[in-house]
Amino acid sequence: MLILLAVLAAMFGFLFGTDIGVISGALPFLKKEFVFTAQSEGFMTGAVPFGAIFGAVVALLTVDRFGRRPVLIFSSILFAAGSLAAALAFSVWSLMLARLIIGMAIGVSSLVAPMYLAEIAPARIRGAVVSAFQLMITIGILAAFVVDWAFSYSGSWRFMLGFSLIPACICLAGILRAPESPRWLVLAGKEKDARTVLKTVQPDISTDRVDTIVREIEDSHPSDPSEESWSRFREPRLRGLLIFSVAAFFLQQFSGINVILNYAPQILDKAGLSGIANELIATAGIGAINMLVTILSMAVVDKVGRRPLFIFGFAGAFASLAIIALLFQLDNPHLALLTLIALFAFVFFFAISLGPLPWLYMSELFPLALRGKGMAVASLSNWICNFLVVFLFPALAASLGESMTFGMFALCCAFGLWYAWSFAPETRGVSLEEIDQAIADQRTKSAAA
Ligand code: BGC
Repeated sequence: MLILLAVLAAMFGFLFGTDIGVISGALPFLKKEFVFTAQSEGFMTGAVPFGAIFGAVVALLTVDRFGRRPVLIFSSILFAAGSLAAALAFSVWSLMLARLIIGMAIGVSSLVAPMYLAEIAPARIRGAVVSAFQLMITIGILAAFVVDWAFSYSGSWRFMLGFSLIPACICLAGILRAPESPRWLVLAGKEKDARTVLKTVQPDISTDRVDTIVREIEDSHPSDPSEESWSRFREPRLRGLLIFSVAAFFLQQFSGINVILNYAPQILDKAGLSGIANELIATAGIGAINMLVTILSMAVVDKVGRRPLFIFGFAGAFASLAIIALLFQLDNPHLALLTLIALFAFVFFFAISLGPLPWLYMSELFPLALRGKGMAVASLSNWICNFLVVFLFPALAASLGESMTFGMFALCCAFGLWYAWSFAPETRGVSLEEIDQAIADQRTKSAAA
């Protein structure tokens, strides 16, 4: 049961990935059918992160009141409706609307699915959850690239965009039969139901253990409501953590990753790699590297530590982006392969560090009472920056050219290198309770001062 639920919640990550990845391969065919301006193209791609901004706010406002399960049911319905609407789109505007709906679904589920997963999983495997969600995003992106490539021979963009309907229906069917999170049930005063869920999810658990878990959940909920209040982010240490999480996502997005994922075939076309099918194979290569290196990152992050890996990622991303900018400047079709290699290198550095680390930091740094709020603000920063970058890219590339645009992404990574060097904390091997305790100690100290 536990495995099934974990797969189900991680499937939301897969959907997140397919919907982000699918557009790059569909775009060349959509352009044959509809007329796009640089602006409408930017908005069509940016509609997903734009919708996700609203989705994250909706999730924040509803998840504690109604429970995790109803919010995830709502998100699955949005996913299914959005995928169907995208497949049946008849104009640029209807496509944008469909992508906006999908974006809302992603915004809701990217906050609530990992929360559900973490709350339903026993503590000993909770750590793997965040990375597993990220891994499923990259598997989804890769699956979308492969589907795009498979349908590129017939040019059927409707099948490309409609593909997500299948995982969306699986998620809907699954979550309709799944139980509510035991943590939410306890906090909503439904302790008896919580016990039944715990017993169903982990059948070999003893009654004593169930009692302990229920007590722990109750204890983790602060008796003093002010502990959970937004005003606590004025405390210097918490403010610092919030700024760091927001900045980590700002830097992740301004590295240009989603420009590369969303516009890969066009970028490669500009770089001189000809033929849509070739471009799509190269794009699938980007997706594969992204996925495989995310697995590598999961294997090394607890050994190497967060801080060195973050610094390493920014250094490598800076170097590869600077090379891409230079190659675009030289504008020589014989150098297309080099551009592709530099793009692969960038994706390597992203996937080992800049991709998973902001998510990991965001789930580790905030004390339990403020985790939901802190995570919501951090993921809002992700979506707003994601939207800005993919929305502005077509216009920037048209006015400044690819070389300058990639040069700007390189500069952001150089800044990231300095920022990570100066501010990135190390949380390897430190338990969440110890981090909580450090913040509580700081609070007592400043209250005493
Ligand atoms: C980022 C996404 C990106 C994905 C690529 C995530 O960490 O937040 O914006 O599309 O990585 O794997």
